[in-house]
Amino acid sequence: MSMQFSSRLSLENAPIIKTKVPGPKSKQYLDIQDKLETSSRSYTSFFKFAVDYGKGSTIVDLDGNVFIDWFAGVSVLNLGHAHPAVMQALRGQVEKMTHITEVPTEARINYLKTLNSVLPGKMKDNSKILMTVTGADACEAAVSLARYNSKKPTIIAFTGSYHGIAGGIVGATSNYHYRDYAGFGSQNYVYAPYPYPYRFPGKTRAEDISKDVISRIEEMIRDPYSGVPPVGGIIVEPVQGEGGYIIPPDDFLPMLRETCDKHSIPLIIDEVQSGIGRTGKVWASEYQNVTPDIMCISKSIGGGIPFSSVAYRNDFDQIPKAFHLGTYRGNPLGLAAGAAVLDVVRDEKFLERVRSKGKYVLSRFEEIQRNSKIIGEARGRGFMIANEIVKNKVDKSPGTELAGMVRENMFQKGVLMHTCGHYGNAMRFMAPLTIEDDLLERGISIFEEAIKETEVGA
Ligand SMILES: Cc1ncc(COP(=O)(O)O)c(C=O)c1O
Repeated sequence: MSMQFSSRLSLENAPIIKTKVPGPKSKQYLDIQDKLETSSRSYTSFFKFAVDYGKGSTIVDLDGNVFIDWFAGVSVLNLGHAHPAVMQALRGQVEKMTHITEVPTEARINYLKTLNSVLPGKMKDNSKILMTVTGADACEAAVSLARYNSKKPTIIAFTGSYHGIAGGIVGATSNYHYRDYAGFGSQNYVYAPYPYPYRFPGKTRAEDISKDVISRIEEMIRDPYSGVPPVGGIIVEPVQGEGGYIIPPDDFLPMLRETCDKHSIPLIIDEVQSGIGRTGKVWASEYQNVTPDIMCISKSIGGGIPFSSVAYRNDFDQIPKAFHLGTYRGNPLGLAAGAAVLDVVRDEKFLERVRSKGKYVLSRFEEIQRNSKIIGEARGRGFMIANEIVKNKVDKSPGTELAGMVRENMFQKGVLMHTCGHYGNAMRFMAPLTIEDDLLERGISIFEEAIKETEVGA
């Protein structure tokens, strides 16, 4: 049964900024962190504060400053912080148990049934689910599955893609049985250009971009002199995430599906960032009615608990026992949160709000873009919207530093908005899908102010 939230989830009147950020208490924690934790952190150089708690689409730091969260823990909190349905599921599960390996529990069965019921197209009732822990873990399992089933070595990925940075540690595991199906090197990947209309190389007309990409892929597959060993899988993001919230032309995924069918190549759709309602459908690939052979699911599925899954077609289930083994796969807290998150997200009214609010937010960004010298393009679908920052609109040279300035300006004013893109130059809107209207309006005004103030020096 789907659970609707009726009352306000976020704190009132955000943002409330009382100190220069970071304030004195935050600073103390940041200093300790700097001393004791690896310097190979990333986000603490963008958002310099220490956090006390989160509520809905708001975050309170240690100094009592209240921020609007358009970051959502890198798109992990589609339902925002501490959503009542997720909290209820987690509290119930914590009382029962927090770890057990693979054996069925109520949480596991509930999750399997709920996920199966929302799988796209022909996947529903025709798929198996493999539990994993992170997005990278799910993607690794997916490419292993594709290669195992196709018996071919090469995976085609796309320029601008991001599927995680796990390093293939199975290579150090001594039992060849595991290395045989899970281990392969980076030489097994080749890259096709992603259909990125704003920056597609060459002079291809906008309406021909998908055709162009597909013909290059066809050549890789068919031409013995393409330099590409036999292709055993294609992995694609239906809307590219870290690459810049890039919306491919509508004919791209169906054409890719057709190519995969023609050559019996498994199509892996990575819904790690674009799934769980982020684009206004449960899965982004549903916009084009394309069914994957293998689908990667992570981030928001766990409601903040590290948890992921791979769904794949039944006839790919000829894999050995202990295929992609792991101690923590199918953690009960993740399973409980997963079913609760899906229950909220699959509600058609919930999704309709994401679509209509998403259209509204995009229209506001487009308005700001038209009057701006540094926003080259505003684009998006649902709550996956980017404003690509450029030094000038004519030569489109990436405004990486400018984007960093906009992010910092917004942060000081109390809004977390992060970047993405090939050059880290796209300001991305990835607020929780549950965000209230007043927080959208204030965030948009602060974005507009930050753009204007940054432009003055540009
Ligand atoms: C589309 C996509 N796939 C995979 C990953 C990797 O997920 P994780 O960071 O959990 O390993 C990400 C992370 O941002 C992603 O956006």
